Amino acid sequence: MSMNKEAIADTMELPPPITEPNIFPVRWDRKTMKLEEVWDASLRDAWDPKKLPWDSLSFEQYSWEQREAIAYWWTLLGVFDGSGPPVFAAAVIKTFEEHEEDPVRRAFFSITRDEMNHEVVCGMMVEKLLGGVSSALDYEPKTELGRRLKRNVHWLYHNGARYWNGYKKAVPKYSLAVLFSSFMMGEIAAASIFHQMANGCKEILFKEAFRSIGRDEARHMAICMTLMERDYPNLPQEDAAIITKQIRAGYLFLSAVLFEPPPEFWDLPSDFIATQRESEAIARAAGFFIPDYEQKKENWRKSMLNLKGLLDKYGIAFPAIPEVGIQGQEITAIDWDDIIPVF
Ligand SMILES: [Fe+2]
Ligand SMILES: [Fe+2]
Repeated sequence: MSMNKEAIADTMELPPPITEPNIFPVRWDRKTMKLEEVWDASLRDAWDPKKLPWDSLSFEQYSWEQREAIAYWWTLLGVFDGSGPPVFAAAVIKTFEEHEEDPVRRAFFSITRDEMNHEVVCGMMVEKLLGGVSSALDYEPKTELGRRLKRNVHWLYHNGARYWNGYKKAVPKYSLAVLFSSFMMGEIAAASIFHQMANGCKEILFKEAFRSIGRDEARHMAICMTLMERDYPNLPQEDAAIITKQIRAGYLFLSAVLFEPPPEFWDLPSDFIATQRESEAIARAAGFFIPDYEQKKENWRKSMLNLKGLLDKYGIAFPAIPEVGIQGQEITAIDWDDIIPVF
């Protein structure tokens, strides 16, 4: 065996300092004990998508058009929840490289794990609703609406891919404080929409799925708030400016599922929204509760006002979101290579 050419161990007593960022040396600082409680709750709340009451619902009771419409909604959710695991896994790596405290690393790990469950549920729903396919793109539509929805899905994935390319470039550039502020927006809104859908859906299967997902999202929100309390009092000025921009980017990105996709980010065919609305009306009529335009708008507005209230306390400017009637700092040019928002 050849010797490592750079062997230095015999030339000095202790090795030179490790070049950062690196996950070594390993250490286990523990300061933010609130996150320890959230971690314990995440273990207590652990749930298995396979154990949802799948047998309580026979999917054949729906028409093909209804199945396509409900599956479309899960596919849309899957654009966001499907990016959850890789997005948060990248954040976990960052917490290790930055030698974050042990409870912070575990907090992000728990989110990664939860998001994996959420995306598993999306996949199982799509599979069962569309008669055994692994992706809505593999499905051969049975109705005219189904054909248009499949085209929508192609465009959703095209835009999702753009988001992922941007995210990969953005992660190394920003501090964890900027990163989780971008996450926070999605978590606040997610916690509220899933709660509503759990209440509104007729079928116990959907209710249970949304209840479990919503409970996870509430913990994610608690994690973001705890980190905010830790980091924002000493936030560098340049980070504050980036956070304002990220909130606006978050609005644009997440609106696709929480409201309607704005053209500033979403590059979609002109009939996309009309098709999506049509599909949502059919799902709703079949007992699958999706908030309507006005309800979504009001939810979204409330979530953002919540976040604005939090950021105000730390003197971080909120962006203008005129689409839902929120005044603030005008953000015009967003570089989509810089976006982080996630669900
Ligand atoms: Fe999620
Ligand atoms: Fe989440």
